[in-house]
Amino acid sequence: MSPLTVGPSAAPAAVLCGLAGWVPSGVVTNEHLARRLDTDDAWIRTRTGIRRRHVVDPGQATSDLAVEAGRRALASVATDRVDAVIVATTTPDHTCPATAPAVASRLGLARVAAFDVGAVCTGFVYGLASAAGLIAAGVAERVLLIGADTYSTIVDPLDRANAIIFGDGAGAVVLRAGHPDEPGAVGHFDLGSDGAHEDLIVVAAGGSRQRSRPGEPSRQDRHFAMRGKEVYRHAVTRMAESARATLSSAGWKTGDIDHFVPHQANLRILHSVADDLGLPRERCVTHVESVGNTGAASIPLALADAAAGQLVRPGDRLLLTAFGGGLTWGSCLLTWPALPAPAHPYDLCDQGERTTS
Ligand code: UT7
Repeated sequence: MSPLTVGPSAAPAAVLCGLAGWVPSGVVTNEHLARRLDTDDAWIRTRTGIRRRHVVDPGQATSDLAVEAGRRALASVATDRVDAVIVATTTPDHTCPATAPAVASRLGLARVAAFDVGAVCTGFVYGLASAAGLIAAGVAERVLLIGADTYSTIVDPLDRANAIIFGDGAGAVVLRAGHPDEPGAVGHFDLGSDGAHEDLIVVAAGGSRQRSRPGEPSRQDRHFAMRGKEVYRHAVTRMAESARATLSSAGWKTGDIDHFVPHQANLRILHSVADDLGLPRERCVTHVESVGNTGAASIPLALADAAAGQLVRPGDRLLLTAFGGGLTWGSCLLTWPALPAPAHPYDLCDQGERTTS
């Protein structure tokens, strides 16, 4: 029997076997922002929990971050063989083509399937489900999934509501075909959307809607816009609902969860969701303080951060839950496998911090 055969009807599962995170070295602290915006460190920390974020240099793009994270994730499993590369991002290098083929090519992965997933901050969880589908269908035995975003390229630096929240980064995982019952197998997905609220998070210009109109887009339309308060309310409700649906489909109780790894939108949102679920806040993995909201990168970066610090250990049960523009949301479960500990994603920066104003 082939090791990938898991029974007469069971399809192979996607099993986490490699992990890495990477952030660019430019750092923007709350104090930097307060120098150019009508804001201050106390407001930002109280309302969001964020102290600093990392940003790309001029000319650096999402694929540059994705390649760094992807290369480290592949090195952690000592492989250069995958059958598919998925990049989850809201900030692709170009509107056309997708970013994943260029990332695959730069990683030396010739001829593999490569595509982007666009589900805004839920992109990584949608990407996990896509990778699991490719593996279950027998299309791929090994998938490299990267969540990467450079929000600093789409947020208006003068927009104090959004400039304080977002940061740039990338996180990558390698998934291999395996048994649904083994540690690292991702499953019990809950994915959802509500396009009736697409206007709550939007970049109006650049797509076919705006391009089919005559005239140049305004500065406002070229930048990321978010109705923060309404998004906040949806985020708390949808994340809690999705987490509950996932636990229920697996027959798990809240108390079975050792670590809740939410999309790092805002510390208050994460704590509200944990409270709603009845999860002690200490079980909520957070790194929003150090990197802000890194979009599709936030969950894999949080995982890399937690694994590097040995906060998550083999056998621990994790619930991943995300929420983002679309609106979109999603959750899944996994039991942490024995993995080579990734390097701390911020090591490079902490050794020689270079700041940006
Ligand atoms: O990742 C995808 C999902 N994204 C999210 O989940 C983000 C969700 N939203 C949020 O995190 C929060 O809504 C924000 C952090 C964006 C804003 O926090 P808030 O507590 O909802 O503040 P607010 O928008 O209600 O604004 C409160 C006040 C306003 O002043 P007035 O009208 O009460 O006088 C704002 O003008 O705070 C003001 N304000 C600021 N003050 C200082 C807004 N931004 C700032 C700022 N510094 N940076």
